[in-house]
Amino acid sequence: MSEDDTDDNPRKLQGLFANNRRWAERIRTSDPDFFAKLAAQQSPEYLWIGCSDSRVPANQIVDLLPGEIFVHRNVANMVVHTDFNCLTVLQYAVDVLKVKHVIVVGHYGCGGVRAAYESADNGLIDNWLRNIKDVLQIHRTRIHALEDESARINLLCELNVVTQVANVCHTTIVQNAWQRGQELTVHGWVYSLEDGMLTDMDCSVDSLEQIPEVYRVVP
Ligand code: CO
Repeated sequence: MSEDDTDDNPRKLQGLFANNRRWAERIRTSDPDFFAKLAAQQSPEYLWIGCSDSRVPANQIVDLLPGEIFVHRNVANMVVHTDFNCLTVLQYAVDVLKVKHVIVVGHYGCGGVRAAYESADNGLIDNWLRNIKDVLQIHRTRIHALEDESARINLLCELNVVTQVANVCHTTIVQNAWQRGQELTVHGWVYSLEDGMLTDMDCSVDSLEQIPEVYRVVP
């Protein structure tokens, strides 16, 4: 073994490669054709738009294998109309993979949402989080009616998810899919770090008729 291959060489991260070998072996043991089948095709039914937080990993939370869920994550699970990264993922998922469900997943105690709630200078990220400040401004009476600060932030986490669901629905991508008769439902969920449970915000949208006229891009 060369010096490069020792476990603590920061240029090699051997521990992660060892994990990877064990993981691939475990999958191959339970299904010898697993990787061959996946390499040939992916056909996920779901697109997950979630927070980058390391405690909110898409596949594990809904107990799905590789190949079953298409994933986009960013700070505070935002869908911003000028973010070509998110829009590209959405377009590929809807137009090419033809996912049946787009799920925006926020989480209670989100650091991004907390940073938007607080007034502080965090640098560049404040420009990204400005979008959540809009949500706070629109719903400020309801949010400030709550005494407890963490309850306020958790409500803002929920309202942010509902807003991002609307943003998904207002894209040309989703509206055009509905217009051509494609089956597609957009959902909003919030995940609890404390007990690992998901809550449905009951804001699902599956047709053009549910979109306010001002946001419609197709007749
Ligand atoms: Co977060």
